[in-house]
Amino acid sequence: MKRLIYIDATMREESRTRRIAGPLVEELGRRYEIETIRLDGAGFPVVGSEILKKRDRGCVPEKYAEMARRIAAADRIVIAAPFWDMSFPAALKVFFENMSLFHITFDSDNTHCYGLCKCSKVLYITTRGMDIHTGDPLEQATPYISALSRLWGLGDLYVVSAENMDYSTPEEIERKIETAVTEGLAICSTF
Ligand SMILES: Cc1cc2nc3c(=O)[nH]c(=O)nc-3n(C[C@H](O)[C@H](O)[C@H](O)COP(=O)(O)O)c2cc1C
Repeated sequence: MKRLIYIDATMREESRTRRIAGPLVEELGRRYEIETIRLDGAGFPVVGSEILKKRDRGCVPEKYAEMARRIAAADRIVIAAPFWDMSFPAALKVFFENMSLFHITFDSDNTHCYGLCKCSKVLYITTRGMDIHTGDPLEQATPYISALSRLWGLGDLYVVSAENMDYSTPEEIERKIETAVTEGLAICSTF
């Protein structure tokens, strides 16, 4: 069975983003073996001078190297992350930095960097408080994930979003979640 890594960067018990991601990941679970990486409370370290010095000596904690190898070997990646401070939670950036490992998720020759990942499709699921659409210059999450996909060689990026969630009535929020699930399931059918 092909393998899918689900990166759950949602941070609230009642997360709307996770409510959209749940049925999509369940549907994908029919065709993929799913590994979930839940970032809330996972405690990935901020990459600073100590970690960089160890990396320079070729030392990366085996559990992170192993996780990065599983990411590099995954057929698909799904990311669920709420829209925070015009992007995504810092925990997701910290996770990416821990997984962005030379010779594992990407490599370089004398002239350029290239990805080492097998994945050919990424699904990014989000909800935004403000009325900001995917592709709006104020929306800085999708461009980043798209750029990282290029570095790691992750293939095509698909985005499912629900917007203006903090300024909608409870009924509107429910409708937006339903619509996003429907759109997401349509993507999943060929994902
Ligand atoms: C720490 C934090 C930062 C946020 N920053 C933004 C923001 O910059 N722009 C925005 O539109 N919404 C922002 N929001 C609102 C969330 O994007 C919105 O409520 C979203 O639906 C939360 O997703 P969740 O239910 O999955 O947690 C922020 C919410 C939190 C808790």
